[in-house]
Amino acid sequence: PLVSMTEMLNKAKDEAYAVGQFNINNLEFTQAILQAAQEESSPVILGVSEGAARYIGGFKTVVKMVEGLIEDYNITVPVAIHLDHGSSFDKCKEAIDAGFTSVMIDASHDPFEENIATTSKVVEYAHSKGVSVEAELGTVGGQEDDVVAEGVIYADPKECEELVKRTGIDCLAPALGSVHGPYKGEPNLGYKEMEEIAGLTNMPLVLHGGTGIPTKDIQKAISFGTAKINVNTENQIASAKTVREVLAAKPDEYDPRKYLGPARDAIKATVIGKMREFGSSNKA
Ligand code: G3H
Ligand code: ZN
Repeated sequence: PLVSMTEMLNKAKDEAYAVGQFNINNLEFTQAILQAAQEESSPVILGVSEGAARYIGGFKTVVKMVEGLIEDYNITVPVAIHLDHGSSFDKCKEAIDAGFTSVMIDASHDPFEENIATTSKVVEYAHSKGVSVEAELGTVGGQEDDVVAEGVIYADPKECEELVKRTGIDCLAPALGSVHGPYKGEPNLGYKEMEEIAGLTNMPLVLHGGTGIPTKDIQKAISFGTAKINVNTENQIASAKTVREVLAAKPDEYDPRKYLGPARDAIKATVIGKMREFGSSNKA
């Protein structure tokens, strides 16, 4: 069923595993991720960027598509529809009013006091509707849709503590060296800060830029309080690679089901691998 992230993330934090946020780009991504979650008996978060929502048709189309699949596929595991990197109060409200069960307000590029003011306003509205809220501090590197970083800025532990106290958010994404898209070399995450922030805030922490992080780092992050890990690029790469292979092997193929179907299977296999790595399998 459709739920907010609050319960799934608190449980994950208590039991030391992470729930995956897998971003949807179209129908096939949504199908693959829901199938993977049901097969693995794992809770799951469907990440929807503003750009992806625009591509799909809008927030309402996203919600109705997910609701339809939950019914047709008999999905019984907990599913959250989460606005990824919400850019303003108005965008978060629009998503909530359309039926999203969770939102991220990303005011991390604003001055600290503005971030707190915007985040508080989102929390007040979201909580009145039973919707969970994620906030961000610091800067995630790289680029994802409309979110472009100039450089990587580490979140400040004291600011994290204050933001959590003053806003009442449900989970926190402190940027600690992670990057959207592929990493140049090995990721170098700030584990010391991560541990400190987890201790100061007592919040489930979110790790953005989950693509390309080695298993040992994933395990370390989980042991230091990370309870949600976002993955997008890795599924996009798996999907694109499959489409290329199918069309190269069959240059006369034109039925989209013949190349998007195998792409969907590749996404599903990738998501299942992540769920096992994150420890969320059999936790639904
Ligand atoms: O918000 C979404 C994620 O942070 C995705 O990052 O594309 O590097 O996996 P990724
Ligand atoms: Zn992100």
